[in-house]
Amino acid sequence: MKKFFISPSLMCSNLMNAGSDIKTLEGCGADFLHIDVMDNHFVPNITLGPDFARAVRKTCGSPIDVHLMVENPENCIACWNFLGEGDIISVHYESSRHVQKALAAIRELGARPGIALNPATPFTLLGHVLDDIDVVLVMTVNPGFAGQRLIPAALEKIQALRLWLDERGRGDILIEADGNVSFDSARSLKEAGADIFVAGSSSVFSPEGGVAENYARLKNMLKNTL
Ligand code: DX5
Ligand code: ZN
Repeated sequence: MKKFFISPSLMCSNLMNAGSDIKTLEGCGADFLHIDVMDNHFVPNITLGPDFARAVRKTCGSPIDVHLMVENPENCIACWNFLGEGDIISVHYESSRHVQKALAAIRELGARPGIALNPATPFTLLGHVLDDIDVVLVMTVNPGFAGQRLIPAALEKIQALRLWLDERGRGDILIEADGNVSFDSARSLKEAGADIFVAGSSSVFSPEGGVAENYARLKNMLKNTL
């Protein structure tokens, strides 16, 4: 069975009770904790920031998966200097004229550099930064808000990206699916080639069950998908 990773999206947690949700997720063995950072410039929303992430780091040992939806991220990689080995920091290709600089700065911190792509952005643009990335975060919705519907074309994009990476000898680069990773879509996303599943309002934080119960349900579903 192909290894997979679940990264619950903390912006979808019960923010009035985030500490308890985080401890529950740590108890579930969450592979990552996904922290969405938005600046009301790259996307029309403002969410979590470095101080929240620092508090998460103090609260539990789970690796952190930061998703920067901010303009010119290369200017604030140092804000994340408390992250390192095992953590992921992803920047959007569309958010900077200096993408390689941002990715190199993340690598310098000791964290795993990720490049995030909006639904319309072709992955073939990544040809000159393959040495600089460990993760490609494929947005399966337009970034900025939880609770949106998965864009069907994203499945084919993930499938083609997996092939493209493998053809270039980069089977090690992980594909992260982010957006409406639901109990229904998770199976198809894994079959398409996704490795890391950002689990938000339609899975781990779905009102259908508690956080631990939903996490176990998603994990079992992915375990039983080739
Ligand atoms: C959206 C964020 C996602 C979001 C996922 O811009 O990047 O991580 O929190 O939430 P759902 O799973 O509800 O789409
Ligand atoms: Zn995200």
